[in-house]
Amino acid sequence: MASSREQLRIDKHVAYIVGLEKKTKTTDALYFTDHKRLSGVYWALSSLALMRKLHVLPQDTILDYVLSCYHSDVAAFSGNTDQDPHLLYTLSGVQILAMYDKLHLIDADRVVANIAALQRPDGSFAGDKWGEIDTRFTYCALLCAAILRRSHLLDVPAAVRYVLRCQNFDGGFGCIAGAESHAGQVFCCVGSLYLADAMDEMTREDRERLALWLCERQLPCGGLNGRPDKLEDVCYSWWVLSSLKMLGHVDWIDADKLIAFIGRSEDDVDGGFADRPGDMSDVFHTFFALAGLSLLGNKQLADIHPAYALTTDVVQRVTEPSA
Ligand code: FPP
Ligand code: ZN
Repeated sequence: MASSREQLRIDKHVAYIVGLEKKTKTTDALYFTDHKRLSGVYWALSSLALMRKLHVLPQDTILDYVLSCYHSDVAAFSGNTDQDPHLLYTLSGVQILAMYDKLHLIDADRVVANIAALQRPDGSFAGDKWGEIDTRFTYCALLCAAILRRSHLLDVPAAVRYVLRCQNFDGGFGCIAGAESHAGQVFCCVGSLYLADAMDEMTREDRERLALWLCERQLPCGGLNGRPDKLEDVCYSWWVLSSLKMLGHVDWIDADKLIAFIGRSEDDVDGGFADRPGDMSDVFHTFFALAGLSLLGNKQLADIHPAYALTTDVVQRVTEPSA
């Protein structure tokens, strides 16, 4: 994209995503790496949904694949067929089914009961039976439960207490209590507090210190990094902006400079976005570039919800009282 206000090449980006799906079938070159494939499908479908083109890929084929990653014995998803289930992929599976309005295809009571079994007495969550703890998994647990309307099956107050213990003196959050602040983990922690309706459990001072730390992620080139002294990266357009949006301070960053940076990372010949200008496009950065632009008000794109990481029409459907 030559200038910050130029039109996005929607046709190219749709063709790029559709091309990935074709390659997946013919050469087994996957959406992303093998073990993360279900998340790759979520990034691809979400990119299309943001461009209002979810229908261009065959829903039945995709649902067959998604369900091949569902382990009915433990009511959880794995990253690819024949791999072990993990909360990261249970979230991707649940998000994809929510997009297609097919949540009835899984046993929601058992999915959330098995997530509840991963919660520790201190409120934290393990990602799977092997027991690694990470605030990413807290976010996955709370978001799955919210989408499946079963948050009451989790100990949400304990989860909130644990997340608050992960906030550092600089306002940021890390992957466990005491770990270095990282914008990806900030997203997970702020998202968790938002989903738990507990944003006010951070003091106003802590919320503002956090928002300032997030604004400091913007570099002179306009792009954002995930931690001090790291390179700018398009995916932080999402991790940082969505957090700022939930904190009510999205206007604290320089939107024009960020839009221009994301534009320079766009491949306007073959489609897709890279992590930074000059690199190769991939589906992960394509989704987070589009999601960031949506949060910045791009009218070519559907609106995305900063905590659910789904377009707002899907969030409305899964949260409306009568459903
Ligand atoms: C940076 O990762 C990002 C994170 C640590 C957050 C990951 C969050 C999830 C997996 C939860 C699900 C997310 C959504 C949007 C539904 P990185 O490994 O790229 O970090 P690096 O830049 O330090 O290498
Ligand atoms: Zn990145």
